[in-house]
Amino acid sequence: MNPFYITTPIYYINAKPHIGHAYTTMVADAIARSRRLLGDDVFFLTGTDEHGQKVERAAQKAGLKTDVFAEQIAASFRQMCGDLNISNDDFIRTTELRHHRASQELWRRVAANGDIYKGDYEGWYCTVDEIFVPESQLVDGRCPTCGSKVERLKEESYYFRLAKYQQPLLDFYDANPAFLQPAFRLNEIRSFVEGGLQDLSISRTSFQWGIPVPDEPKHVMYVWFDALTNYLTALGFGSDNASRVDRFWPVVTHLVGKEIIRQHALYWPAFLMSAGIAPPRRIIAHGWWLMGGAKMSKSVGNVARYEDYVGVFGVDALRYFVMREMPLGQDANFSDEGMLARFNADLANDLGNVVSRTTTMIARYCGGVIPDSPQDARDDLDRGVEKQIEITIDAVKAHFSAFQITVALQATWDLIHSINQYIVQREPWTLAKKPAERPKLDATLFHAADALRVTAALIDPVMPDAAERIRRMVGVSQEQWTELKASTLRAGTRLGSIEPLFPRIEKTVEELRSMATDNAMPSQEQKPIGALRQDQGVPSDVSRDGAGEAAAPGATQAVGALRQAQGVPGESRDAGTTPAEDTRISIDDFMKVELRVAKVLEAEAVPKSKKLMKLKVDVGTEQRTIVAGIAEAYQPEQLVGRTIAIVFNLKPAKLMGVESNGMVLAASVDGGKPILVAFDEPVPPGARVR
Ligand code: MSP
Repeated sequence: MNPFYITTPIYYINAKPHIGHAYTTMVADAIARSRRLLGDDVFFLTGTDEHGQKVERAAQKAGLKTDVFAEQIAASFRQMCGDLNISNDDFIRTTELRHHRASQELWRRVAANGDIYKGDYEGWYCTVDEIFVPESQLVDGRCPTCGSKVERLKEESYYFRLAKYQQPLLDFYDANPAFLQPAFRLNEIRSFVEGGLQDLSISRTSFQWGIPVPDEPKHVMYVWFDALTNYLTALGFGSDNASRVDRFWPVVTHLVGKEIIRQHALYWPAFLMSAGIAPPRRIIAHGWWLMGGAKMSKSVGNVARYEDYVGVFGVDALRYFVMREMPLGQDANFSDEGMLARFNADLANDLGNVVSRTTTMIARYCGGVIPDSPQDARDDLDRGVEKQIEITIDAVKAHFSAFQITVALQATWDLIHSINQYIVQREPWTLAKKPAERPKLDATLFHAADALRVTAALIDPVMPDAAERIRRMVGVSQEQWTELKASTLRAGTRLGSIEPLFPRIEKTVEELRSMATDNAMPSQEQKPIGALRQDQGVPSDVSRDGAGEAAAPGATQAVGALRQAQGVPGESRDAGTTPAEDTRISIDDFMKVELRVAKVLEAEAVPKSKKLMKLKVDVGTEQRTIVAGIAEAYQPEQLVGRTIAIVFNLKPAKLMGVESNGMVLAASVDGGKPILVAFDEPVPPGARVR
């Protein structure tokens, strides 16, 4: 197995994580997962950068001791990994003892090589970016990177002989043209180095929150000297067991945002060369998520929180959106509109539709068992599908190996479009009516299911949860990419239970935003995961930790929304452009849903929710509580005494902390205000509606 080591930057803990941090972590996770599928021995590291003046000041501002503050914010970054389904092997905090030891060991080695000397530093410093800014680079007296005010420093400092490494660095760049990607970044850094290097101040005396310099405790290390060393610490550098250093260094890929290229592509190799350690194999610099045209940044305050998007769209959809939307190395605008459009077009329509159609038709026409497609029964269309599956597998592997995740997703979606097209061309619902066409029907459903199996494997690094759900529906297990081929699905495999993958969200962006605000607890800034789910029919299993509100039943749904939440295939999504198969259900299916008459005994609004109303109803045999999304259309007093229709046999679900037992029926025009179903003659509670 080839060793493959991937890292994210370690994040400053002066504030909680936002979409920018979430992005790098999700991309690194997708790369790690793809490498595991390619058979590599992967070590994936992320963590927090906890030293420096910025953190010390943030703690003071919060009125907390620095270590207590650090503990709290570091926990929110660790939580982010859990929330986003990140498969990291280690989470490093620079305040850990192992890291102090490793940083001091690196310092000693650099010093032993004669590359550290004492001097006085006088100049400008940007505490936001933790960088020294030469006077010539100031922009209107401010930091050229982040635009913050810089501070004047004058203190004793140790220096690193960076200038000495000018030529070795240039030689290294020439010998390793793939060291920094995208390639134009290497040209930029090369020009910078060619312009001449000055020695670098690497210690500070004016504050204490850092790693003491060996034998000089009044100095703490410059935060970047300490921070970069984390990549070695996690391998055991400076400890008794450094076997992982031998295995994973220097075959490392550092994934970073473009603003910290200089530290990674210049300082870091220079420190390592000085210490007699090989520079890292590869640095990949991605662009920025912009918000309102500016870099999303906690220092500026224009941030979007990943939790909000996970709450509305689910983890996999957020992962998909950011990786599909931002090509490697470029900036992209983060917008709610973009996210909603991608969700409905790519996930609900394209992917959701092909999964739902294929599995439902196999259930209906083949008794839920994958049919056979004997070689001699395949025609050109079937062979074309096979070929495209093979081509897509190769393309996705190649794009992932080149870290081109966006392009890999595009290739996968080309396959999904083709399969949807193949189904439309074949019209299995027509073939099913003609017994003589049975072999063709079987072949079609076999190849469509085979494509689902492969699609699940190919989206796995980006959407691990959706991939697993597709596999469960098709009845297969996870496959290594090294083994992945077309047409290896085994005929006779039994489907698992069919569930909606990404039910379409019928709300507008404004509605989603107002719901997000409505459900915010207790601070408006952070919304709980899953808080909005029940009104959108997003299945609860998208939520990995089970926190927040459970899905589906309970809230009032328009009849059309109910169809969708149940994942009925071929519905209105692409009606008009493609002929839909017969989606009608049998009377037996309908009779499984017990609709009954109920009488409202009590009604009260659910606290902190604009939409939800808690009802106590008499259902003939008992009294029960139902939570319904009708509070915007009805006052409690309009409801008490009223006769309504409910779904009687729904599993209970918790909505905003209240257990709901059943669902109130209402109509709504285009997702607008709900109008309760009523009866034109008195009927007693408990009577069945059919
Ligand atoms: N602590 C340093 C890194 C030390 S690595 C040895 C640091 N921390 S940070 O908290 O500011 O995080 C910076 C990283 O977060 C960026 O390099 C990038 O990976 C990610 N992002 C932060 N804001 C971002 C955007 N607006 N867009 C995309 N990624 C962003 O720098």
